[in-house]
Amino acid sequence: MNKKTQVGIVGAGPSGLLLSHLLHLEGIDSVVLEARSRKYVEERVRAGVLEQGTVDLLCETGLGDRLQREGLVHHGIELRFDGRGHRIALSDLTSGRSIWIYGQREVVKDLIDTRLAANGTIHFEVDDVSLTGIDSSSPVLSYHRGSQDHNLDCDFIAGCDGFHGVSRDSIPAGVLRAYHHIYPFGWLGILASVAPSTEELIYAYHDRGFALHSLRSPEISRLYIQVEPDEDINNWPDDRIWEELSVRMATDDGWTLKIGPILEKGITPMRSFVVEPMQSGRLFLAGDAAHIVPATGAKGLNLAVHDVHNLANALIAWYRKGSDELLKQYSTNCLDRVWRVQDFSSFMSLMLHRYSDDDGFKGRLQRAQLGYVCSSEAASRSLAENYVGLPYA
Ligand code: APR
Ligand code: PHB
Repeated sequence: MNKKTQVGIVGAGPSGLLLSHLLHLEGIDSVVLEARSRKYVEERVRAGVLEQGTVDLLCETGLGDRLQREGLVHHGIELRFDGRGHRIALSDLTSGRSIWIYGQREVVKDLIDTRLAANGTIHFEVDDVSLTGIDSSSPVLSYHRGSQDHNLDCDFIAGCDGFHGVSRDSIPAGVLRAYHHIYPFGWLGILASVAPSTEELIYAYHDRGFALHSLRSPEISRLYIQVEPDEDINNWPDDRIWEELSVRMATDDGWTLKIGPILEKGITPMRSFVVEPMQSGRLFLAGDAAHIVPATGAKGLNLAVHDVHNLANALIAWYRKGSDELLKQYSTNCLDRVWRVQDFSSFMSLMLHRYSDDDGFKGRLQRAQLGYVCSSEAASRSLAENYVGLPYA
C-alpha cells in the first residue's frame, strides 16, 4: 500500500512523539512508525528529571496539565560524601530556575494521549522499517504492518528511533563521524514502592562506589548504585541492593534509608556518543539516534527535547516560508548544546564514580573537586546552571 505524509517519523519515544505534536500545532502532517507496542513504550522505565526549559516548552504547547498537577518542583540537590550532605541551591544560584521530577514514561503517556486525541497517526508494532531516497526530494519509509507491506512517501524523514534504530545506519558511508566513549562503570537502577527518604535528589560519592537517590512520587522511589558495566543482575538480590545503598548513602548524623518492595530493576552501561552531522539530505536525526549522554547529569530527555524544538522550527519555516535556512543550520544549532551537555555529564560522572583501577590519586582529585564545588559559590553556580539547563540559544 502506498501512502503519503509530509514528515515521516521513525520512533515513538519522546523525540518522535513531541516532534509530531509540535508539527501538528502548525498544521503539518506526520506519521509515526514504532517497532514496539503502545504498552511497552508507555511502561519503559527511564529517567525523570526535567529541566526548566523542557517544562516551559511542554506547558506552552499544551502538554502541561498532568505535569503541573503531579510533577514535583525541586529547588536543590544534595552532594553527599565523607558522611555529610552538601546542598546545591539550584534556584538561588540560577535566578529562580528549577528542575521538575516527572518520569519520562509520564511524558510519553501524555504525548501519546494528546496525539491520539488530535487524530494523529502512530503505527505501533511495525516491522522492518527501511529508508530510501534520503538524498532525493521524496524519501520513502517502507515497513510491514500485520501481513501487509507499506510505502510511505514523505517530504522529510525524522530519525527518532534511539541509539539502536535504523535511521542513522541509512546514511551513506563516509557522511557521519561518530564520537564514542565507554565509561568503566554501569548503573543498577531500581524502582521501589517506598516513600522517598529525602525531599531532594542525593548524589553520593563513596569508597564503594556512587549511589543516587531519586524519586517519582511521594510513594515511589528511584535509586541507583554504581556497578561494573558487565555486571550480572542475578548477583544482586533485593536485600543486597538495599544494603549497598544504605552503606553508600550513610551519614554521620544517623540518616536512614527507608526500604520497600522493588518493582523493577535493571543495569545500564554508561556511555557518551555523538554523530556529526545530525542530518543527511532529507533525513534529520534527533534524540538518542544522534547522541547518548551518561545518566549522571539527567540530560538525555532534555537534550532530545532541544533537538526536536529546533527541528520543528526548521520544518515550520520550510513549510510556511519556503526557507531552508534553519534546516541547513539544524545540526550546528543542536550540536553546540549536545557538546556542552556531554561535557557537563562527563564532569558529573568523573567526579562521582569510583574507578576500580584507582591507586588513590583519582580519589584524591575527586574529593578536592567535590570540596570545591560545595564550598565555592562560583563552582556551585556553574554546576547549578548546567543542571537546571542553560537557556536555549
Ligand atoms: N523502527 C521503528 N521504531 C524503532 C526502531 C525501528 N527500527 N528502532 C527503534 N525504534 C523505537 C524504539 O522502540 C523507541 O520507542 O524508537 C524509539 C526511540 O525512543 P527512545 O529510545 O526513547 O529515544 P528518544 O525518543 O530519542 O528519547 C531520548 O529518551 O531514551 C531516552 O535516554 C533517552 O532520555 C533520553 C530520551
Ligand atoms: C532518575 O530519576 O531516574 C534520575 C535522576 C537523576 C539522574 C539520573 C536519573 O542523574
